[in-house]
This record gives sequence, C-alpha cells and structure tokens, in this order.
Amino acid sequence: MSIHLIVLAAGEGSRMESDRPKVLHEIAGAPMIVHALGVADSIETGERVVVVGHGGEDVRETVVNLDEDIRVVEQAEQLGTAHAVTMAGPALEGATGDAVVLYGDTPFIRPETLADMSQARKDGADIVVLGFKAADPARYGRLLTDGDTLTRIVEWKDATEVERAITLCNSGVIMAEASTLLRLAAAVGNGNAAGEYYLTDIVELGRAEGLTAKVVTCPEAETLGINTRADLAAAEAVFQTNARQSAMVNGATLLAPESVYFSYDTHIGRDAIVEQNVIFAPGVTVESGARIRAFSHLEGAHVGAGAVVGPYARLRPGSELSNGVKIGNFVEVKNATIADGAKVNHLSYIGDADIGADTNVGAGTITCNYDGVFKHKTTIGERVFVGSNTMLVAPVTIGNEAMTATGTIVTLDVPEGDLAIGRPRQENKPGLARRLFQKLRAAKAAVKKG
Ligand code: UD1
Ligand code: CA
Repeated sequence: MSIHLIVLAAGEGSRMESDRPKVLHEIAGAPMIVHALGVADSIETGERVVVVGHGGEDVRETVVNLDEDIRVVEQAEQLGTAHAVTMAGPALEGATGDAVVLYGDTPFIRPETLADMSQARKDGADIVVLGFKAADPARYGRLLTDGDTLTRIVEWKDATEVERAITLCNSGVIMAEASTLLRLAAAVGNGNAAGEYYLTDIVELGRAEGLTAKVVTCPEAETLGINTRADLAAAEAVFQTNARQSAMVNGATLLAPESVYFSYDTHIGRDAIVEQNVIFAPGVTVESGARIRAFSHLEGAHVGAGAVVGPYARLRPGSELSNGVKIGNFVEVKNATIADGAKVNHLSYIGDADIGADTNVGAGTITCNYDGVFKHKTTIGERVFVGSNTMLVAPVTIGNEAMTATGTIVTLDVPEGDLAIGRPRQENKPGLARRLFQKLRAAKAAVKKG
C-alpha cells in the first residue's frame, strides 16, 4: 500500500545565517530536501506534497526539477506544524490510505523506519509517532506513554519539570490515515506557550475521539534535524560515515575510508579499490574492479571495469572511460569518451574529445578545445600514438593507427596510418653554449667587484 508524503519546509531556518532557504543547503551534493524526499525511492508513495513558506520559489524550483509530479503548496505564515499540514489538504483531497509528515530539515529518516510505522498502523494504531531516546533531550517535544500507548505529546515550552525529565522524544514524523490526519490537524488550537498550532496536539484530540496512538522508535542519528551550520556539518559527517560503510558492504575496498567523500548518488562497483583522499562529486559511477588512486576528484564521470584513475586525476562531467582505461597523474578529462584500453598517463587535458581503443596519449598533450567563444571537438582513432606535448587544435581528427611526433601542433586532420610532424626544425651551434657561459660568468664577476 502506498503512503502519501507531506514534507514541511516552511520554517525560517534563521540560525543558518544564510540568504538561502535552509532546506536548500546541501548534504553530499544534494539539497537536504532532496534527501528528505529520497525515501520515496524505496517505498511506494502516493501524493508527495511539499509545504513551502512565502516566497519559497527556489525551493519549489528544486523540488519540481527533482520530479514534476511532486506538489508544492504555500504556507504564507508559519503558524505552526499543524497549520502547515492543513496547507496540504487541497492536494490530498479525496486521498485514501495513509499519510506521513516529514520535515525538510530532517533528511535521514530511513524507508525501513517508515515501513515499521506502516506496520504499526496495520497492527491497529490510528496514529503512529516516531520517537527516539535522546542523549540530550533539550527542547524536543516529550512523548508521554502508558504501557505501549502514546497518551500525549508535550512541547518543551509547555512541559512540567517531571515531563521534561522524560527522554523519549518526538522526532516530528507522524503517520495516520490521510483524512484523519488532515481533519485532526485542522481541529488543533493555538492556546499554548508559543501561540502556535502544534501538530503534536492531534494525539490528544484523536484519543478524545477514541482513536489509539503508538510510538515507533528509531536511532537518534536518524532524526538528526538541521538548524545551524554546525548541524549541517554533523549531517554531512553522518552521511559520509554511512556512505563509506555501504560502499564497503557492497564490496568496494576503501584504503582510508575516513578520507573518501561520496555524493548522494555515487555508485561504486564490487572489487573497486578507492585509495586515500578521493572525492566523488555528484554523478559518478565506478564499475567493478576499477581503481581510483589517491587524491583524485571525480564528477559526472563513468569509470569502466578495471580502469585506473589517478593519482591526482580530475574527471569532470561527461567523462566516459571504458574498460581498462588508464588516466594517470595530473590529467584532466572533460566531456570525453575514452575507449577500451586507451591510456592518458601524464599531465594532459582531454576536453570535448573521443579517443579510440588502445590509443596512447603522451605526456603533456592538450586538446585545444576552446577558441574563446566556441568549444570544438577532437576525434582520435584506435591504436593511435600521440607524441608527448602534442597540441590538438580542435576541431581536428586523427585516423586509426596514426602518429603525431612529439611537440607537434596539430591543426590539420591526420589520415589513418600517417605521421604528423609539425615543429620547428632543430639547429645546433657548435661551441656556442660554452662561449655564452664564459661571457655570462665574467659579467657576474664584474658586478660583484664593482
Ligand atoms: C517540532 C515538534 C517537536 C519535535 C521537534 C523535532 C511540534 C509542535 N513540535 O518542534 O515535538 O520534538 O519538531 O525536531 O510539531 N514548519 C512549517 N511551518 C510552520 C512551522 C514549522 O513548515 O508553521 C516546519 C519547519 O520548517 C520544520 C518543521 O516544520 O521543518 C518543524 O518545525 P519547528 O518549528 O522546527 O518545530 P520544533 O519546535 O523543532
Ligand atoms: Ca526544529
């Protein structure tokens, strides 16, 4: 059975000291709201509704870019979490089945946890609240229980000393039948210490009608909410720890896991080896058995099986490396396909290019792809030998099994099997070096005396 998602993202987030809406701050290269919505990848969802604040255009754009089926509704004034939920009412008009309330600034709720809550609903609870044992309960709402029944949620501001001593806290995630949730949220009043419409009040309201409420718990790390830059850094650390763990569980070797940084969408194949200090920006897939050597930075790149990248390599968006390709130290690749077994081992820039199978690109080779206005393409065939320090002035094509001599500036296409040589002819001046040295040393001695 599918679950409707209501993601609240209308909060101020003022403690970020930022001009950017809080939920657009990124964790592992994706806005935190994208992480929060990510549970939908693993559970069957019905409607997905995001509640944004007044002027939440940037949030709307991010969400709609992610998936245009997600509904975005506005809560002009932040009158409280219950009020925010009621804003989703029209989008859920006539919806059957359960709905769950998530927060855009609480990005790590696992799909398994929502499945546990769903199970508690099936087992008969009308309202299911996700709780956690807080190491430092601080200002979280407290869950008041009687046996395994949830009797009430009390906000810290309204709690007595005895209630504040409770360590079972409210994560904010609440599940109920969509129509029940919306009806109860609309019935909530604001006669509390904060003068807000608290969603948490639906537990008492529901119980007064004879509905039952239960708590499902999860580890505290999962409910991590982000209010400050320090929280954001902590969330990044949690993400990275989990990503390293799952890369290893899935069969990758990380030589120094704590020095490898993943993005939300990084895929690392079985038996891939990732050396120290490697950064995976968004959009990277590394196939099985590939090796990413130390200090490399990859973004928008596909690394084929058995390929070797780095140390100190940079793969930029559009890098497509086939099986067994070798990209060595201080090589930058952008928008280029490199076919099976080709090698670019040292100090090169390969941009807007296609390189054929088993071609060898010598040290210091540059594809001169940009004329200041337009980008141009370089096409290199199979089994080509590109001599060191070749300048490939694009657009240019080099045929199969051709060669370029070291230092050649290639401005014309090179036909298959030909050798291109284009460099000033060398001339030796007999004894001139020795005479020059003598003259210069004499000049230096004269300066010292004077
Ligand atoms: C809320 C819970 C509290 C829980 C805590 C967990 C209530 C009344 N309290 O408190 O029990 O322990 O979360 O973090 O629900 N939001 C809106 N519109 C609003 C108000 C809030 O969209 O009018 C959004 C915020 O963006 C945020 C979320 O709802 O993502 C929670 O709001 P916040 O004000 O942070 O609630 P807390 O006081 O932290
Ligand atoms: Ca909060």
